Amino acid sequence: MISFSHVYKTYPGPVHALRDITVEIQKGEFLFLTGKSGAGKTTLFRMISAFDKPSSGQVQVAGYDLAAIRANEVPFYRRKIGVVFQDFRLLRGRSVFENVALPLEIRGDRVQGLNRRVDDMLDHVGLILKKNAPIEQLSGGEQQRVAIARALIHQPGVLIADEPTGNLDPQMSEEIMDLLDRVNAQGTTVFVATHDHELVRRRAKRVVNIDAGHLR
Ligand SMILES: Nc1ncnc2c1ncn2[C@@H]1O[C@H](COP(=O)(O)OP(=O)(O)OP(=O)(O)O)[C@@H](O)[C@H]1O
Ligand SMILES: [Mg+2]
Repeated sequence: MISFSHVYKTYPGPVHALRDITVEIQKGEFLFLTGKSGAGKTTLFRMISAFDKPSSGQVQVAGYDLAAIRANEVPFYRRKIGVVFQDFRLLRGRSVFENVALPLEIRGDRVQGLNRRVDDMLDHVGLILKKNAPIEQLSGGEQQRVAIARALIHQPGVLIADEPTGNLDPQMSEEIMDLLDRVNAQGTTVFVATHDHELVRRRAKRVVNIDAGHLR
């Protein structure tokens, strides 16, 4: 489902953010990515979300060759994946509901039961009572849960989540991980970057560690 083959990413400087990354993630797998600040986690996720291309090597996700993807193919590719950004990237001035509904509206499809689907998702992440609140009135942890709901609303085959519990208390972190577990149990491939070694230890999933751009 996700395949990296000898991937390098070098930023001007030069900063060698990814060095010879080779990894295979099977369809339906749940994988953690750990590593210190600056190790390359977000860079690796930027390759998967097609926000950036590798300097060299191959990245394939859901049948797309992301080293060679054309700009006009990217919106179609993005329908196959869900992305939780480290910095959320929510739309300020819009409500919780509007933020979560956005990926469905962008598709332009007449989504059957859109209101119901968004409500169900907000229920899942414990935000139904904040449905009409503007984003800027939410706490950091609440915003994080909106970002997760938005990433999942179009039922992607692959979910990548960059520090999805970074701003949450331990109990809410567990609830979010339970939610990601359920999503995974329904067949979605889940790839989660986290600093939280305790959380990783409790979950007993496959773990890869990145250190100065090297996967170990
Ligand atoms: N656009 C960029 N231009 C130059 N250097 C960059 C750029 N983006 C990231 N880097 C560098 O690449 C390295 C990896 O950064 P990355 O954001 O992937 O780390 P990370 O593991 O996600 O860290 P954190 O845990 O703090 O989020 C760092 O040295 C960073 O400074
Ligand atoms: Mg990061």
